Amino acid sequence: MSKDTFHDAGEARALRDAFGRFATGIAVITARDSEGPMGLTVNSFASVSLAPPLLLFSVARTCRSLDRLAAAASFAVNVLGRDQEAVSSRFSGRGGEKWTADTRILEGSHGAPLIEGALAAFECRPFARHEAGDHVVFIGEVLRFETTGHGDPLLYYRGAYRALAI
Ligand SMILES: Cc1cc2nc3c(=O)[nH]c(=O)nc-3n(C[C@H](O)[C@H](O)[C@H](O)COP(=O)(O)O)c2cc1C
Repeated sequence: MSKDTFHDAGEARALRDAFGRFATGIAVITARDSEGPMGLTVNSFASVSLAPPLLLFSVARTCRSLDRLAAAASFAVNVLGRDQEAVSSRFSGRGGEKWTADTRILEGSHGAPLIEGALAAFECRPFARHEAGDHVVFIGEVLRFETTGHGDPLLYYRGAYRALAI
């Protein structure tokens, strides 16, 4: 790190790559409305507060799910396991069908469908929403959660899926 290795914050490609050096897990946000189920893959999930129990994730303004998700009475955060890379890819696909026959779901208690086999699932009601540049930050209040999934997490680092090395 020397003075001339710093980028200007306006260099979007370099900034995106720099953000990508923060390793994350992967979650699928799910909800349901009168049109049916919706879902999208995110790695912007973070825990926020224990009392009250809050979490957050951010959704790009370009996401087709945005308006439906913003209007949903509840949503769920499904934390994916290492064996759910195909689920992550499906729910981040721009074109293809997300809810295929092999998407195994469980009915949550608050309306959002839950992805079977997830390492953890958090059922939430909307707590706050913040406009933030080209994304919208959703803060959810956890109503109910479960952690029955087993195994390692699915990780994401520098634009690629990763697995724990230990
Ligand atoms: C690993 C990974 C992480 C992602 N994280 C986010 C995220 O945090 N926020 C977001 O808006 N999109 C994220 N995306 C992109 C969305 O999943 C993708 O744009 C999706 O197609 C949106 O679906 P929709 O347009 O049907 O709403 C991510 C994609 C991948 C592969």
